[in-house]
Amino acid sequence: MRAALRWKLVKFVGAGTLLVLAAAVSLRTPAEELSPLSAEEHRLLSPLTYRYLLNQPDACRDRSPLLVLLVPVAPQDSAARGAVRRTWGSAERDVLTLFFSGLPGAQLQPSLQGALQEESRLHADIIQMDFLDSYQNLTIKTMMMMKWFSTFCPHAAFGMKVDADVFVNVFLLLERLQRSPRRGFITGSVIYDGQPRRDPNSKWFLSEERYRDHTFPPYVSGAGYVFSGDMAGRISWASRFVRMIPLEDVYVGLCLRVLDVRPVYSRSGMFLRNLFEIRTLKYDRCTFARLLIVNRYRPAELLQMWKDFSESRAGC
Ligand SMILES: *[C@@H]1O[C@H](CO)[C@@H](O)[C@H](O)[C@H]1NC(C)=O
Repeated sequence: MRAALRWKLVKFVGAGTLLVLAAAVSLRTPAEELSPLSAEEHRLLSPLTYRYLLNQPDACRDRSPLLVLLVPVAPQDSAARGAVRRTWGSAERDVLTLFFSGLPGAQLQPSLQGALQEESRLHADIIQMDFLDSYQNLTIKTMMMMKWFSTFCPHAAFGMKVDADVFVNVFLLLERLQRSPRRGFITGSVIYDGQPRRDPNSKWFLSEERYRDHTFPPYVSGAGYVFSGDMAGRISWASRFVRMIPLEDVYVGLCLRVLDVRPVYSRSGMFLRNLFEIRTLKYDRCTFARLLIVNRYRPAELLQMWKDFSESRAGC
C-alpha cells in the first residue's frame, strides 16, 4: 500500500524528483527489521525451544489434505474441541482438523493433563507443547502451528488458522480454494490501519519499548485466516527477524512485511462484501451460506447452527 502510494506520488511529481523518491522507496525497510533476533529473544519464540508432549506426526503421512485447519485451544477447552469435531471440523473429507495446546497452569495440571492425553488417544487430533498456555503466549502457539504444518504436512495445499469459537463455512471455503493461488497467498479480514495501544490498561497494550512504530503493517485478523502451504515455512523463517509481541495476528503481519507478502481480502457479490466476518451475527442460514467465517459462538450455539446449516444450506 505504502509503496503503491509513493509510486503514484512519483508519477505525479514527475521525473525530476524520481531518483530521490525511488531511493526513499528502497529504504522502506529499516535495517533493524532484517537483522536477526538475539539468541535469547529468539529462544522464547522458537518452537525448537519446546518439547512435544502430544504430537500427531503421521497425520499427513498417507494423504495431502487440500486444507488443514489449525485450531489453537486452551488445554481445558474440551467442550470447544468437541463442538468443532462435530461441526465444521469433520464436515469434508479433504479437510484435516488439528488442535494446538500449551501447558495448563500449575493448579490445573495433574488432572487436566491426564484428561487431555485420554482425549488425544481417542481422537488423535491434539498437539501439545510444553510452554504455558496463556493469552500472552498465543504468538508462541501460532509459530508452533506454522512450524508443525511445514514440518509434518508439507504437501497440504492450504492451511487455516482458526479459533474454536468461529463458525466456518468449509463448503464455500473449499470451493473458493479451488481457484486460489497456491503460493505466496494469505487471505482473511485485512486490517490496514492498526495501531499499537499505548494505554497500559488495555488488553492489547504494547509499550514503545516493545514496538516502536506508530502503525502496524497490514495484517489479517486472528479469528480466522487462510494461507497457501508454502507460507507456513516462510512465516516461521521470517520470525527470526521479528521481535515477539503478544498480538499474534499483528505478529504474523510483521512476518509478512519481512517476506514482502501482502495479505488480501476475500470479497464477493455486488457490494464486495468481506467474506471473513469478524463480528458476531445472528444466525441466518442463507447469510451464513455466503460467508466463509462468522466470529464467536459458544460450543452449544455452534452445534445448533450447524445442524440447520449442514442439512439445509443447499436450499439457499
Ligand atoms: C510463556 O511461556 C513461557 C514458557 O512456558 C513461560 O515461561 C512464560 O511465563 C509464559 N508467558 C506468559 C506471559 O504467560
